[in-house]
Amino acid sequence: MPIDLGPLTRIPIVTEDELFERAVEARQRAYARYSHFRVGAAVEDESGAIHVGCNVENAAYPVGICAEAGAISAMHVAGGKRIRRIAVVCGLADGPETVFCAPCGACRQRIAEFSDAATRILLRDDTGNVRRLELSSLLPAAFGPVDVLPLSPAPG
Ligand code: THU
Repeated sequence: MPIDLGPLTRIPIVTEDELFERAVEARQRAYARYSHFRVGAAVEDESGAIHVGCNVENAAYPVGICAEAGAISAMHVAGGKRIRRIAVVCGLADGPETVFCAPCGACRQRIAEFSDAATRILLRDDTGNVRRLELSSLLPAAFGPVDVLPLSPAPG
């Protein structure tokens, strides 16, 4: 019987491959009826827990939700506070991941809300090449919580 040292020790640290695998699984659930472009995202939070999302499109096109938005929402509802890593995979239809899929502008802003300097955005193409990006390279001079902190203090 292992000694229970608390929640942090109960969550295994996932490898980068495992994090991508969770994103691939999520991508298989994408509802990409209109664009046929399927995206999956897997967020690792500060405790090592993984939260996934896929894009969910809508007949009213702008109402569709990005994969990253779904994963971040899942993280928050599960109690996660910070994004340690987020892996994103994408590609057309049921085919393999095709290109590096950098988060769209809106999702960069969503990631910024729950990021710090250590956060890494992981992208992978169909040849298995991985890019590990810092948010500051995707969203320099970002507008963030610090700009409106007097209005909205950090969550306790
Ligand atoms: N999409 C994402 O899920 N994440 C992104 O960062 C870029 C775009 C989705 C939205 C839409 O369902 C499809 O990809 C094509 O734009």
